[in-house]
Amino acid sequence: MKKILITGGAGFIGSHVVRRFLINYPQYEVVNLDALTYAGNLANLKDVENLPNYRFLKADITDAKLISQIFQAENFDAVIHLAAESHVDRSIADPNAFVITNVLGTVNLLNAAREYWKGSYHEKRFYHVSTDEVYGALGDEGMFTETTAYDPHSPYSASKASSDHFVRAYHDTYGMDCVISNCSNNYGSHHFPEKLIPLAINNIKNNKPVPVYGKGENVRDWLWVEDHARAIDVIFHGAKSGETYNIGGHNEWKNIDLIRLLCEVMDEKLNREKGESAKLITFVTDRAGHDLRYAIDSTKLQNELNWVPSLQFEEGLAKTVDWYLANEEWLMNVTSGNYQSYYETQYRER
Ligand code: NAD
Ligand code: TYD
Repeated sequence: MKKILITGGAGFIGSHVVRRFLINYPQYEVVNLDALTYAGNLANLKDVENLPNYRFLKADITDAKLISQIFQAENFDAVIHLAAESHVDRSIADPNAFVITNVLGTVNLLNAAREYWKGSYHEKRFYHVSTDEVYGALGDEGMFTETTAYDPHSPYSASKASSDHFVRAYHDTYGMDCVISNCSNNYGSHHFPEKLIPLAINNIKNNKPVPVYGKGENVRDWLWVEDHARAIDVIFHGAKSGETYNIGGHNEWKNIDLIRLLCEVMDEKLNREKGESAKLITFVTDRAGHDLRYAIDSTKLQNELNWVPSLQFEEGLAKTVDWYLANEEWLMNVTSGNYQSYYETQYRER
């Protein structure tokens, strides 16, 4: 049986990846390693936590010694690495946390895998889940491809770019089987309400101002999170070692247009007068170094591994709103911080 370590599985995207692998591959043993930071929430996996092929380990990837011990004890065949500090605004406030988790944490995992696999990478794989933000910002034209030069601007994207470089370096230097994917902005259920879409849903629901940075002219390419999890699945199983794939939704929205659409959906779902939620839109000071536009060309993934996004944005956004309105308790718990006590499991050193 294949034993797969998924890091960051208690987070937004990680929980969708863990669920997909548990359900689609009952023959795999899936170990979810997560430090349960403010963004990690085991309630995200409540529906699958009792499956026999699932296990959770509470551990911090910045603890090199512990990570090495876990690799020695566990016999992993593959790593899908998602654990990260993921919010650009937090990276502007505290860059060091991003260097420590995203760069050092990734290198700790690479070292542990290298040490444990001892240079024999047959049937082994280290998959790094990364972001399109490493490519920097686009103007009005063009799209990021896999050959676009790295040009990160925020401390978050700089830390992800650095970790991508380390993963490539371990492939090139030690021959480790590595793959990387760079994905655009995700949306969907279990998204922490500090990111634009869930924050706006939460604020609209509570009649609080919806902050739009600058003039709302910045463009993001939004992808349904379950389509990202499916892309990770096909890349994990189908990519050659050393390959990189871009993943995107072909779904560009100016922030202000997206928020206006979301306000319309919320009016409908909450039985409000048309236009009521839009009154909450509040333009605020722009984010420092705010990248103007991201857009992903995922032709390579489509041509080589036959992946295309499955869901229209309007449908996905309505489903997302429905999920948040139906999961008030989840939203209350994550905004109050109570969720960290939901699961007491600690990894015990062996
Ligand atoms: P998230 O913030 O929701 O989840 C991150 C998870 O990592 C949390 O469960 C957290 O507890 C865990 N974690 C953080 N620091 C840790 C540490 N030191 N040790 C162990 N676990 C730790 O993030 P997300 O949005 O789900 O993003 C997951 C990955 O996908 C990240 O690597 C991110 O860079 C990448 N990504 C995200 C997006 C997006 O739109 N959210 C797009 C492209 C790529
Ligand atoms: P975010 O969800 O933080 O993702 P990222 O910065 O990784 O793209 O932000 C998405 C876009 O929305 C980005 O252009 C910043 C903007 N934004 C706002 O206008 N208001 C907000 O409150 C937030 C969190 C983001």
